Amino acid sequence: MQNSVALEAKQLAVFYGEKQVVYDVSLKFPANQITALIGASGSGKSTVLRSLNRMNDDVATVKGEINFHGLNINEPKVNVYRVRQQIGMVFQQPTPFPLSIYENVIYGLRLAGEKNKEVLDQRVEESLRQAALWDEVKDQLKESALALSGGQQQRLCIARTLAVRPEIILMDEPTSALDPVSTSQIEDTLVQLKEKFTIIMVTHNMQQASRSADWTAFMHQGHLVEFDKTANIFMNPQEQKTADYLSGKFG
Ligand SMILES: Nc1ncnc2c1ncn2[C@@H]1O[C@H](COP(=O)(O)OP(=O)(O)OP(=O)(O)O)[C@@H](O)[C@H]1O
Ligand SMILES: [Mg+2]
Repeated sequence: MQNSVALEAKQLAVFYGEKQVVYDVSLKFPANQITALIGASGSGKSTVLRSLNRMNDDVATVKGEINFHGLNINEPKVNVYRVRQQIGMVFQQPTPFPLSIYENVIYGLRLAGEKNKEVLDQRVEESLRQAALWDEVKDQLKESALALSGGQQQRLCIARTLAVRPEIILMDEPTSALDPVSTSQIEDTLVQLKEKFTIIMVTHNMQQASRSADWTAFMHQGHLVEFDKTANIFMNPQEQKTADYLSGKFG
């Protein structure tokens, strides 16, 4: 069965000042699947990812459409705060705030004005469970998040993103700062998460893409070269550039 489309980028073009770095990228991200964005350094992966929830607003000009539930969220009049609540982001470096584990998880809910302790308690447990961190931290929720290991901090940041119940989660190299054990824990978590969320992930780790992603998009010098099921991209790429990149000829 074909998954429905959760988010669509249509003819995306991105400029930093005069310099164009993304050209005519059109991509339909399937719902409840993991899509990996791969490609050499500087190929525009992070730029595309950050455009999807308007994170580039202050630094770049983004042309084209980003369609989400029938609405082009790249229109200036769209409420960016709401967009980022529905399309969350997890960064490369774990970025816990110098607060307790509990307060880190509900940070976004507090900003949104939620005060009901039952709701907050429930959301903390739900989000930490979804991020596969609950069992490790349930007895130390009031302790500082900064005392956690790097891998735990990154799962905490995932929990913090999940706590506002987004539909889509964008991740920019979420495991590149982590050791192999933490990396594999996060990969396992992602596979669980796709039952409820749609995940779009930039990764430099080809094994990670082939292990975790259902779909893979290969970018080269700001262009989308190929987008297909991950197995097809890795086993039977249709474009010579994709084959060259995967065989290590550049990048
Ligand atoms: N804030 C910025 N201002 C100006 N140019 C930028 C900015 N961010 C990125 N660029 C340029 O845009 C191009 C694409 O960069 P981007 O960060 O999207 O690539 P990437 O594929 O994510 O690379 P990497 O794998 O190294 O993270 C590069 O030429 C980069 O120098
Ligand atoms: Mg990048």
